[in-house]
Amino acid sequence: MTLKRVGILTGGGDCSGLNAVIRAVTRAAVIQHGAQVVGIHNGFDGLVTGRTMTLDTAVTRDILTLGGTIIGTTNKGNPFAYRELNDDGTIRVSDLSDKAVQTVRELGLDCLFVVGGEGTLEIGYKLQQKGVPMIGIPKTIDNDLEGTDYTFGFQTAVQVACDALDRLHTTGRSHHRVMILEVMGRTAGWIALEAGIAGGAHIILIPEIPYDIRHVVRKITLRAKGGSPFTILMAAEGAVAVGGSAITQESATTRLQGVPQLGGVGNHLAGLIKQDIDLEVRTTVLGHIQRGGSPCAFDRVLGTRLGAAAVKAAAEGKFGHMVALRTPDIVLVPIAELAGVVRTVPPTSQLIEAAEAIGINMGRERM
Ligand code: F6P
Repeated sequence: MTLKRVGILTGGGDCSGLNAVIRAVTRAAVIQHGAQVVGIHNGFDGLVTGRTMTLDTAVTRDILTLGGTIIGTTNKGNPFAYRELNDDGTIRVSDLSDKAVQTVRELGLDCLFVVGGEGTLEIGYKLQQKGVPMIGIPKTIDNDLEGTDYTFGFQTAVQVACDALDRLHTTGRSHHRVMILEVMGRTAGWIALEAGIAGGAHIILIPEIPYDIRHVVRKITLRAKGGSPFTILMAAEGAVAVGGSAITQESATTRLQGVPQLGGVGNHLAGLIKQDIDLEVRTTVLGHIQRGGSPCAFDRVLGTRLGAAAVKAAAEGKFGHMVALRTPDIVLVPIAELAGVVRTVPPTSQLIEAAEAIGINMGRERM
């Protein structure tokens, strides 16, 4: 079918490559169909507030290399459980999904492109079940979405983390220090693992393999005894000790999001290590630097391919699907198959095998 009017929203945490997708969807919809394109502001929030903007080839010019998202995003706007702060500090939760559906109808959208991670796609799919024709486009720096080889944003984040490790190497070696780098990854350690391998880390701690601090300390001690007190430790923010839980922070904003904000594992590890070893330990928290800035070439290409394929899928009426990379092709995956599944690093991962084979410590007795 010919598309007349389509909408696009970006939900959840941002990442590099979102604008490449927005540009690709807009250009494909305009060039292939002569369609009007509506940008929904700030994820699903825009469907509740009705705030939108017009997207066309002029508006999306020169945004391929731009970080962030020109239509905004939020990780607080689930219309099925809309969380707002009362004056007394309590949270009120309401179901505003009917309002969101009504906005889509009023806008007259033939398709709503939902760009997001697992949570955002799940909300999009619930809207589809209420009559909103939608197509999902997989995004997240965490690379933890089932059904696709890679989400866009991940490779850029890995490169940023790898660059940071390269820099920590030179200063750490010069000062004979233990250098800890904390990166993102709540439940999936893909960034820590890939960037850790790429950046020559000596220890990598990921949420999927609870660490025993004794093995971490042992690795550092062995290196020191071997004449190299300098050690690079890469830790995902969600890394947990055996029998422990992730280090979290708490604030009104995080309560509005409905999920705890992680962070602090790097300093926590530094404290534990310093109890046992008389070496200088320094921690760097990379944080949102992993999500900002220009996408790498891989993410520009992937974002462009996913955006163009999403428009094609909409014209073919393949609603309720996500466009996905199954190398070398872009394929369609039913979102129903993905609901609620977070793709963590499997215990049998060849990445882990390769890391341990070359002597990288994963916080456990070498397998
Ligand atoms: O889901 C992506 C992610 O980058 C996580 O790795 C991280 O825990 C979270 O977003 C942080 O999100 P924010 O600081 O935007 O709440």
